[in-house]
Amino acid sequence: MNVLITGGAGYIGSHIALSLLQKNHRVIVLDNLCNSSPLALTRVEALSGKKMTFHQGDIRRRADLNLVFSHQPIDAVIHMAGLKSVNESLQKPVKYYQNNIAGTLMLLETMKQHQVKKLIFSSSATVYGIPVKIPLCENCDTGNTTNPYGASKYMVEKIMGEVVDAQPELAITALRYFNPAGAHPSGQLGEHPEGIPNNLLPYLFQVANGLRSHLPVFGDDYATPDGTGVRDYIHVMDLAEGHIQALNHLKPGYRHYNLGTGQGYSVLEIVQMFEQVSGRRVPLDMRPRRPGDVAICLSDPGQAKKELGWQATRGLEDMLRDAWRWHTQNPQGYVAQPAGSEI
Ligand code: NAD
Ligand code: WQD
Repeated sequence: MNVLITGGAGYIGSHIALSLLQKNHRVIVLDNLCNSSPLALTRVEALSGKKMTFHQGDIRRRADLNLVFSHQPIDAVIHMAGLKSVNESLQKPVKYYQNNIAGTLMLLETMKQHQVKKLIFSSSATVYGIPVKIPLCENCDTGNTTNPYGASKYMVEKIMGEVVDAQPELAITALRYFNPAGAHPSGQLGEHPEGIPNNLLPYLFQVANGLRSHLPVFGDDYATPDGTGVRDYIHVMDLAEGHIQALNHLKPGYRHYNLGTGQGYSVLEIVQMFEQVSGRRVPLDMRPRRPGDVAICLSDPGQAKKELGWQATRGLEDMLRDAWRWHTQNPQGYVAQPAGSEI
């Protein structure tokens, strides 16, 4: 298949691009590089030994999309392009709705114009908002979101359902990721957030590296076994494989699936496992709860197993080991190597 990945230069998209190339699909990437580096794609090509097509452009621009869809036939789209910072979305909601919703509308229009019928969308467990039931299954309530980022994912899912109602020949699957973590085991692909990390693992790695003195632990009085927040971390390679399975099972209609492991870990369990894996110590700074956080966010991944034949196979130790390898080998993220050196 010719698969277009919007946002394919990003953290998750680059891992999906690699998995697709390894399965002999042709990969086309459209990315405006607002939060990524083209070096990720160079590394994907080196790891796979295959070429892909890269278009630098923006999903909000009709001309950019038309150029990509006219350049070669597209059989399916994996739509990853989006902004993802919860904090930033609270400060700049219009930017988030513009990018994540208006960009998606432009993509849907272009797909219709070019008669492309298959789409996989990067959604998020954030659509469940404050969980009313744990573990979260696909028929749990959505929409009770707590920030513009989450609302944008919820609204896009809703729009996609309505578009499929109007065009039943479309096959759209939304994948609700829980907490993506880890990196490619080669240490060549991974996540490198700019500035002060918001998420637990990037922050923890910077403390372990000596870049920051302490890991803030946001709340130790939750109703969890050790009082700290529990999350369902999922290895980015498991996520990538989930997309391949979703692609293989696409059929007309709108569907959504959780991509998680179903296993939760607390902040303190993560720190403990990381110290074992890395041999580094992570000094902690106990802080009050972070506004907007929930005690536990955990998936029931049963539906993806049943209908897509997919389940996560990697555990927390793999996620931490692989992400730490990436982090130690690429402390500055994607940086051009001197001429002649290996990537
Ligand atoms: P990322 O920022 O690394 O990747 C997103 C990519 O989209 C980047 O390469 C960015 O340059 C590109 N992009 C953004 N706006 C664009 C636009 N208007 N036009 C073209 N390209 C654009 O993030 P990621 O972690 O790889 O996330 C990928 C997707 O998965 C996002 O939609 C995100 O909301 C979703 N998601 C991520 C997480 C997570 O915790 N990482 C969890 C759930 C869902
Ligand atoms: C995990 C746990 C924190 C940082 C976010 C988004 C969500 C999704 C994934 C995209 C919590 C605690 C964190 C720190 C800490 N993204 N923590 N110290 O909040 O579950 O999910 O990323 O869709 O939408 O909200 O992930 O990694 O920020 O936090 O104690 O420095 O770690 O309180 O319990 P979260 P996280």
